[in-house]
Amino acid sequence: TFKVSNSSGSRDVRAVMQENGKNFLVVYGSQTGTAEDYAKKFAKELVGKFPQLNVLVADLEDYDWDEQIALLGRSTPLALFMATYGEGDFPDPALPFERFLQDQDGETLKGLYFTLFGLGNSTYEFFNAAARNTQKMLTKAGAQQVGKFGMADDGAATTDEDYLSWKELIMEDLKDFLQLNEQDVVFRPAFDCQWRDSVSDDVYLGELSANYLPTQELPYNEANSLQTGPFSHNYPYLAPITTTFELFAKGNDRNCIHSEFDISGSNLKYSTGDHLGVFASNPTEKVDQFLRVLSLDANRVCELRPLDATTKVPFPSPTTIEAAVRYYLEITGPVSRQFFSMLVQYAPTETTKQKLLDLSKDKDLFASEITSKYFNIADALSYLSHGEPWTTVPWSFLIENIPRLQPRYYSISSSALSEKQTIHITAIVENMTIPDTKEHVVGVTTNMLRNIQLSMNKLPTEDIPVHYDLDGPRSLYGGHKLPIFVRKSPFKLPTNSGTPIIMVGPGTGAAPFRGFIRERVALAQREDSNVTMGPMMFFYGSRNESDYLYRDEWTQYATVLGESFQMFVAHSRLPGEPKVYVQDKLKEQESRVLDLLKAGAFIYVCGDAKAMAKDVSATFVGILSRGMSISTDEAAEMVKMYKNVGKYQEDVW
Ligand code: 2AM
Repeated sequence: TFKVSNSSGSRDVRAVMQENGKNFLVVYGSQTGTAEDYAKKFAKELVGKFPQLNVLVADLEDYDWDEQIALLGRSTPLALFMATYGEGDFPDPALPFERFLQDQDGETLKGLYFTLFGLGNSTYEFFNAAARNTQKMLTKAGAQQVGKFGMADDGAATTDEDYLSWKELIMEDLKDFLQLNEQDVVFRPAFDCQWRDSVSDDVYLGELSANYLPTQELPYNEANSLQTGPFSHNYPYLAPITTTFELFAKGNDRNCIHSEFDISGSNLKYSTGDHLGVFASNPTEKVDQFLRVLSLDANRVCELRPLDATTKVPFPSPTTIEAAVRYYLEITGPVSRQFFSMLVQYAPTETTKQKLLDLSKDKDLFASEITSKYFNIADALSYLSHGEPWTTVPWSFLIENIPRLQPRYYSISSSALSEKQTIHITAIVENMTIPDTKEHVVGVTTNMLRNIQLSMNKLPTEDIPVHYDLDGPRSLYGGHKLPIFVRKSPFKLPTNSGTPIIMVGPGTGAAPFRGFIRERVALAQREDSNVTMGPMMFFYGSRNESDYLYRDEWTQYATVLGESFQMFVAHSRLPGEPKVYVQDKLKEQESRVLDLLKAGAFIYVCGDAKAMAKDVSATFVGILSRGMSISTDEAAEMVKMYKNVGKYQEDVW
């Protein structure tokens, strides 16, 4: 069995710290795992740099929070990593912590010292709101901030650099504040690795029958029992894909996959507009490359023993190196500068060591030599050593310094009303060849979905860049299965079906609208149906006919819905034609759009956050300003108000 965090099961963080001789506390509120990842990196570096520190890293949800935390005092600061989620919300696991902060009345947290790093995205209106509110509430309650409040902006794609700049300063601040001695970073492992040379029955190979995560025991036997969750990020449901097909026309150089997950073997529920979290595994080519570059023996079995009772085993143990790499490590993502600075101690030669040091200290050099080439860890290491394998990087270093493989999220494209037992997703397959090399940058999950599509439909696989272990332990009981869970989203149809809606969703942004429209179709087709159906305008965009998603379905929906449904299509790359975007179509329909807005329409926008969502928002500002004869500023205020009250909803990425 796999044991969780503190062996005592205690939720009293000070007691656990005391029992385990900890003198520094790092906590995170994380929704998708990024804040967790940075908190752990930070803790690793703290202990590596300052031999006096003994750090406890914890999820905010792992402990109860009360005023006693202030007793940690000046000698034991609290380092907080806080992500912002949704409309400026605290991440779900941090909600009890938020309530604790809200409940403070007076200077109840005097004596508490904290550092704060927020993770957010400036594409959204409430940039880093959870971290900002944390700072406000902590300060109001008398807690004192050490160093600068750091903020990462994923919208500008600078999270890593934002973290590194903040980290450099905060390490200095903490060093002064706590009067610490600094050393060259050394890796202080949190686990002891007991090696075995052969695979016995108790060794985890990636199957979900034994368990998915180390935190819970799941007697998995879908053949004869209903799986009852609650299913979550920490406890996904292994769902079979029952139907899947390619959405782009033959000959298109890109692929877009429609996948249907059967949830009838579980009590998993969703509502139309929610997101589906999907865990993929790493492709065989990338696993092999990683093992080769790091001279790892795929079949060696490692049993992890935490060195103190506060550490969680990151994946089932004992397990083979291969299973851990394939199912648990994020090996295809971009390599970070921080990873290089930790790796210095294992450089095989003096020259490589110098190179690693230079790269880890110089962000421009790192950007031009590493980031701009889209290198993952193995690409980068092999580039640095001129193709020579690295032989001195310990396995325990790798598992503690490489982030965990995270689920990817997709807007659900089915309707909970018409598909109760099935969840559809619509995913464009991400592939890119790195210039000057033969390496591919691949989206792990979308390529896996495509592999499954080809395999299930018995189609040729010659041209696919990467392959997966589709017959491996996770296909237990036959079929192609992936671990999934539902993430609630505020992106929801108005409760009254009579309310007009305007939907804007180019590309795979059409996904949730397929769900919305199927929902309205199901409503209209109900036997007892006497619902009033409000007008629906759907603005869709694609390059041309060959990437026109669900082309035939929309006409069928239109037949059922009649005049209440209108669809407008923009094509941006028709030969010899000017580019037309969804916002151009929106402008063409200005008077109708305005009428619907005056009648209380809800606006929904889904798809690209960087350009499309902003351009569309600006277009609505223009329409309102002209139509209501108000200034652009006033119209912008109006759109903002629409967004605040949930009448203008965005599902953008
Ligand atoms: P493109 O030919 O310029 O890539 C789906 O990706 C569709 O959205 C494509 O037709 C794409 O056009 C289009 N698109 C790209 N940028 C956009 C923007 N800023 N606003 C609206 N549509 C956009």
